[in-house]
Amino acid sequence: MAFPERFSNLPDYAFPRLRKLLDAHAPGAAPIAMSIGEPKHPMPDFVAGILAENIGGFAVYPPNDGTPGLLDAISGWVSRRYGVALDQDRIMALNGTREGLFNAALALAPEEKSGKRPVILMPNPFYQVYAVAALAVGAEPVYVPATAATGYLPDYASLPADILSRTVLAWICSPANPQGAVASRDYLSDLLDLSEKYDFRLLADECYSEIWREAPPPGLLEIGAAKGADPEKYAVFHSLSKRSNMPGLRSGFVATGPESMQRIRRLRSFAGAPLPLPLQMVAEACWRDEAHVAASLALYQQKYRMAAEIFAGHQGFRLPDGGMFLWLPVQNGEAATLKLWRETGVRVLPGAYLSRDVGGDNPGKDYIRVALVAPEEETRRGLIRLRDCLFG
Ligand SMILES: Cc1ncc(COP(=O)(O)O)c(C=O)c1O
Repeated sequence: MAFPERFSNLPDYAFPRLRKLLDAHAPGAAPIAMSIGEPKHPMPDFVAGILAENIGGFAVYPPNDGTPGLLDAISGWVSRRYGVALDQDRIMALNGTREGLFNAALALAPEEKSGKRPVILMPNPFYQVYAVAALAVGAEPVYVPATAATGYLPDYASLPADILSRTVLAWICSPANPQGAVASRDYLSDLLDLSEKYDFRLLADECYSEIWREAPPPGLLEIGAAKGADPEKYAVFHSLSKRSNMPGLRSGFVATGPESMQRIRRLRSFAGAPLPLPLQMVAEACWRDEAHVAASLALYQQKYRMAAEIFAGHQGFRLPDGGMFLWLPVQNGEAATLKLWRETGVRVLPGAYLSRDVGGDNPGKDYIRVALVAPEEETRRGLIRLRDCLFG
């Protein structure tokens, strides 16, 4: 019995790969987890009460698109954060943003463009679901370097016209995982112009928008609205996993134009898994509250400052503009990850597990990704061990 060919070249997912690399080796000291982007800051204190009050909601099938209350809370947040008014028919609640990223591509990518196989553009390195979504719809994934040379964001405008004219979707992640780059207003505006010129959609993954160093990152919703761009041509994704420190809640949202949203919602109604009702109630309260977000941001900003002090004067160290990761150059990311684990117990992720080989070059292979998710003192211990082991 055959298996589908389209996923046959997929590498193992990053974390099983990491377990394969490290788990046969004893850690050099008490382990410190800096590999997964799982925030360890406190979740909002109202969560337990809301869950208890709404526990009966597990007895009913939840609304597919989100309760009116949740959609209203999201729309309120978008308006406060970006100054953009969104009707509820432009928003859908997600059962974790990852499924939304995948399913939106399924709903929005056409089978062909001008009679040719479509292309889906993505940065390299990148959050891995982008590539799997491209393969699932039969498109050709094109991995575009997002390295020091390009300001850690993809330079889509530099691609040949024959690629751009076959492009149906392009992913952009800002703040970027893993590089920590933030797309400026000009970058986003130019990208909208490019997508207009070549008639493709933008899918903007802005899950890390509330974790930033100097200023709140601009969002595609605000730039699109300011330019009067066609809202059907871009979709924006957000998550409570990072904003509210609740990766286990599995809650986010997608926003786009009404027709694109209708297509995403229709697919969801057949094949999707909506968020359970009590969890929609929790999500609603999270989007309405900013105090817990500000408290968490202060902790990240303190850790950025601490990392800058610990690595002061070390070649290649760069603070991210946003997000929760350091993206550090090393000789060989896999070898460095293994050495670090065996000598110090610090667990990080090799950059190559988030990037692809293109023409013999893999832009992540000489990097490690370091998650600043643990409490401050544990993060400090981890970073000092890392510096002394790899940058000493
Ligand atoms: C860039 C990026 N997008 C999306 C997600 C998925 O977020 P969620 O937990 O809401 O599925 C993550 C999670 O790590 C991420 O790093």
